[in-house]
Amino acid sequence: MDASLIDAVLGEAEFEQIEILREPEIGLSAVVAIHHTRLGPAFGGVRCHPYSGLGPALADALRLARHMSLKCAIHEIPGGGGKVALCVTPGMDRGAVYRRLGDYIEQLGGRFYTGPDTGTQEADLLALGERTRFVARPDAHGPGSIAEATALGVFAGIEAVARELDQGIAGLRVMLQGLGAVGWPLGERLAAAGAELTVSDLDQRRLERAADEWGAELLAHDVPAPTVSCDVFAPCALGGVVSDDTLPLLGASAIAGSANNVLADARCGRELHRRGILFAPDFVINSGGLLFGALFHLEGASPPPERIAAIGDLLARVFFEATVQDAPPEQVAEALAAQRLQAAKAPPFFPQRDAVP
Ligand code: NAI
Repeated sequence: MDASLIDAVLGEAEFEQIEILREPEIGLSAVVAIHHTRLGPAFGGVRCHPYSGLGPALADALRLARHMSLKCAIHEIPGGGGKVALCVTPGMDRGAVYRRLGDYIEQLGGRFYTGPDTGTQEADLLALGERTRFVARPDAHGPGSIAEATALGVFAGIEAVARELDQGIAGLRVMLQGLGAVGWPLGERLAAAGAELTVSDLDQRRLERAADEWGAELLAHDVPAPTVSCDVFAPCALGGVVSDDTLPLLGASAIAGSANNVLADARCGRELHRRGILFAPDFVINSGGLLFGALFHLEGASPPPERIAAIGDLLARVFFEATVQDAPPEQVAEALAAQRLQAAKAPPFFPQRDAVP
């Protein structure tokens, strides 16, 4: 292994477990990061992405697992964060890779409960479910669609953002980037509530459907989504969309979407605040899927939609505190998460699931 990768792993003292899984015969190459299990299982999905190597996969897994811990803390869920960053490799035997990952997760004995993230499809979750009890299955043995729960939370978050802008959803101009597992159901809700949508995606068929079904405007190929003049920019594809490159060109009054790690770094958040662009902290607004999957696992039943929609109230509180403190909302949200984590007590046991169905 390259020495800088070893240094990176050793430098992450706050992480409970970091493992690299390699099985070249089936094309498995993945990093598993478990941030902590002090209060209960680590929750986090499998992100499947064409990483350029294990270094970028490691960086992604660490950042995303930390985010999952923040999500658990802010919702007072007895658990921590985890993540699998799975590299798409040439000739990868997808079914075999996900089943092998399932074996690995099963032998962790419940310390890690997984689900979807970008690039992991329903069929992959079912392959995981053949080998482990600790996965949010999309069928009758699981909680249902995590992505739709995420979309419901993001919608409630956008409603809270609209209130801050003294608007409602009807007539709200939204630039929706990404029409995937989360972006599509979010777009459906926004369109049904009367938002004026401009959309972008790499998939032309999804774009055409959005134009047909929602009357959405399609973003011209040469226009970067963050620059579109609108009320809300909703990034639902990639992270890092607010960076030194895009900051001077931002056209929205607010940024609120499902993408993880929207800000390239904390400095970008401070700059948004200074410019008066409202930012809905990603680990709050996109936490509907975590709430849905984690509460199903911990309590044995999916939470009602109102529990997910309460993300809007949580965001409203964060925005209020941010105004009072004259601080960036993500800073306020992180402080609230830290406060709740400190007050949390470990439960007496981890929930156990039945045998693999
Ligand atoms: P997905 O892979 O189903 O959809 C992503 C969509 O974005 C695809 O339709 C893809 O074609 C499109 N896309 C990719 N690059 C693009 C670009 N440059 N411009 C426009 N569109 C582009 O992923 P999913 O599950 O919908 O997740 C979206 C984001 O939300 C990711 O950042 C993910 O980490 C985050 N997230 C997802 C959760 C979930 O429940 N699935 C939970 C929390 C966060």
